[in-house]
Amino acid sequence: MHAGNLEKAIKLVRGARKVTVFTGAGISAESGIPTFRDTGGLWQEFPPERFAHWQGLLKEAWHHPELVARFVLGVIEPVARAVPNPAHHAITRLQQRITTTVITQNIDGLHQEAGTQDVREIHGSLFKLIDRSGTLVRTLHRADLQALAQHLQGMLHDNVTLLKLLASFRNVLGVDFKGIVRPNIVLFHDAMAEPDWQRAQQDAQWCELMIVVGTSAQVYPAAMIPHQAHQRGCPIIEINPVTGEFGGIFLKGKASEILPQVVQKAR
Ligand code: OAD
Repeated sequence: MHAGNLEKAIKLVRGARKVTVFTGAGISAESGIPTFRDTGGLWQEFPPERFAHWQGLLKEAWHHPELVARFVLGVIEPVARAVPNPAHHAITRLQQRITTTVITQNIDGLHQEAGTQDVREIHGSLFKLIDRSGTLVRTLHRADLQALAQHLQGMLHDNVTLLKLLASFRNVLGVDFKGIVRPNIVLFHDAMAEPDWQRAQQDAQWCELMIVVGTSAQVYPAAMIPHQAHQRGCPIIEINPVTGEFGGIFLKGKASEILPQVVQKAR
């Protein structure tokens, strides 16, 4: 990492009164949740044009229920086992000192589990089941996801059929994919999760510093948020082991190593 950039980032954090942290899958990578677009990422095995929207998923479930069982397992199993890593905890510590909001594209609930408040889940949450009107009907726990994962694992040893797949969602989670009850997650072509998306846009106008962590910034409208902050002159710090996308101060490396350092040294 460029030492000069680290110093600049620390200075910015020290001077900021209102911080927004914008996170993507990379912040949870070291909690064991694979990202989408890196090598071994979810979209490599399950192409997004087939699996990242409800219509595609239903079509796949009809023709290839076993593949959909594998896809759902690929999503829920790592989340069911995950615990927050030092990057999530560093944000909580930052929030204890400076007014901080978090905008996350992740559906894994790890920011909240680390004790962070004011988290905007703009792509929804795997833990919230909603009805057709969008009303929350049940909040799941990691143990519920573990139970579903076990159920699906068992099914994969046998013969997966669409009926068995739907029955396992209904029996274990109470999810009914006729559209009555479903997880509140945003797939491609869906509207962003509200009221979180509205709040995220307000944050982009409000913050004095934005810290962008672990996102490839490929997916819109989410990736608009750092651009909006940048356009109005808000400084940006970017933490990523590969590259920054928003022309900010780039800190190259893993979130769990860099973020705790920055927060600690800015004290
Ligand atoms: P991606 O998989 O597109 O990008 C992950 C980013 O994390 C990459 O830039 C990696 O370099 C970086 N990364 C990997 N390991 C890291 C680590 N240890 N520390 C920090 N960064 C690391 O994931 P997102 O940008 O979050 O949306 O993807 C955005 C959206 O695309 C997701 O919310 C999801 C997906 O399709 C929907 O499905 C609607």
